[in-house]
Amino acid sequence: MVKSQESPVKIEHAGLNEHTQKMLQQLKIVTVIGSGTMGNGICHVFAQSGFDVHMMDINQTALDKAIGTIEKNMDRQVAKSALTDDQKKKALSRISTYTDMAEAVKDADIVIEAATENIDLKVKIFQQLDKLCPERTILASNTSSISITRIGSFTGRPGKVIGMHFMNPVPVMKLVEIINGYATDKEVTNLIHALSEYLGKVPCIVNDYPGFISNRILLPMINEAILALQEGVAGVEEIDTIMKLGMAHPMGPLQLADFIGLDTCYSIMNVLHMGFGAQKYAPATLLGNMVQAGYLGVKSGEGFYKYTPGSKDLVVAERFQNKSWKI
Ligand SMILES: NC(=O)c1ccc[n+]([C@@H]2O[C@H](COP(=O)([O-])OP(=O)(O)OC[C@H]3O[C@@H](n4cnc5c(N)ncnc54)[C@H](O)[C@@H]3O)[C@@H](O)[C@H]2O)c1
Repeated sequence: MVKSQESPVKIEHAGLNEHTQKMLQQLKIVTVIGSGTMGNGICHVFAQSGFDVHMMDINQTALDKAIGTIEKNMDRQVAKSALTDDQKKKALSRISTYTDMAEAVKDADIVIEAATENIDLKVKIFQQLDKLCPERTILASNTSSISITRIGSFTGRPGKVIGMHFMNPVPVMKLVEIINGYATDKEVTNLIHALSEYLGKVPCIVNDYPGFISNRILLPMINEAILALQEGVAGVEEIDTIMKLGMAHPMGPLQLADFIGLDTCYSIMNVLHMGFGAQKYAPATLLGNMVQAGYLGVKSGEGFYKYTPGSKDLVVAERFQNKSWKI
């Protein structure tokens, strides 16, 4: 692996005060916890931007799969001339994999946690990170909905805990939603804002309320689509087509739910439901059933659609092909 001696951040970053500029230039090693759908994409963009990336997961198979995914996605960029072959090789050589958290974080300047969306798990991870990381390390979470303030309160450094919410697929999507915990230091927010721009993203800062902005608005729409399907108002294809062609959404809500992962959607709805205490956020029974049964969307091979490796065809899952709701 190519170990750089200094931060890849060299350019004068327009509009940054001297302090933020200096902090940005001190960032060299980024550890990403979790190498699933989001973790591998986050590693991809940091490695492509010149950072040394430590990718950590409890599951070696997930790490191997993530490296394969990053390589495949970079090949796609090379084919589109968005990346040279040499840049791809250098970026891949900057990523090292770990199953031992202590090893993965011991030199980290910033950690981005992208493990499964579960509050108890995240609290445990942040407690471990707080113990294992150097004092200077910033601890960011890619959580879709869980309170940054709450996660930070379990650490001895709540001022250095922040939400850095990338969108899926990370190398393609421009937005980073930055979530200010109640105790997050302003200089940390400024730094993450500058870092997001350095990665070529467009950051938006929001305050810490359940679901923040993105998922407070997106997930109830997805849940409503699932409720409409559950009630037999229309079929999978009809619901997605109406939202695609009628509302100019690039993807229908049910396909998007498959893409996000139905387990993640379910967790986010539960956070909104509990956080606001309002019935309108209760997750659809069908969503809960699908998650319990292991139909999680793209990652498990079936959700509202059936996914066959190597095929790009969008095929409605057999159980939703019954059109008995039609008159
Ligand atoms: N999927 C999306 O579209 C999306 C978008 C934005 C944010 N997020 C958020 O990103 C986070 C990750 O979601 P995902 O879709 O990548 O999930 P995923 O299920 O694809 O991957 C989660 C990974 O975390 C690993 N993991 C579990 N416990 C761990 C631990 N203790 N230490 C290290 N690794 C551990 C798992 O082995 C798995 O590889 C969640 O908080 C989710 O809400 C997801």
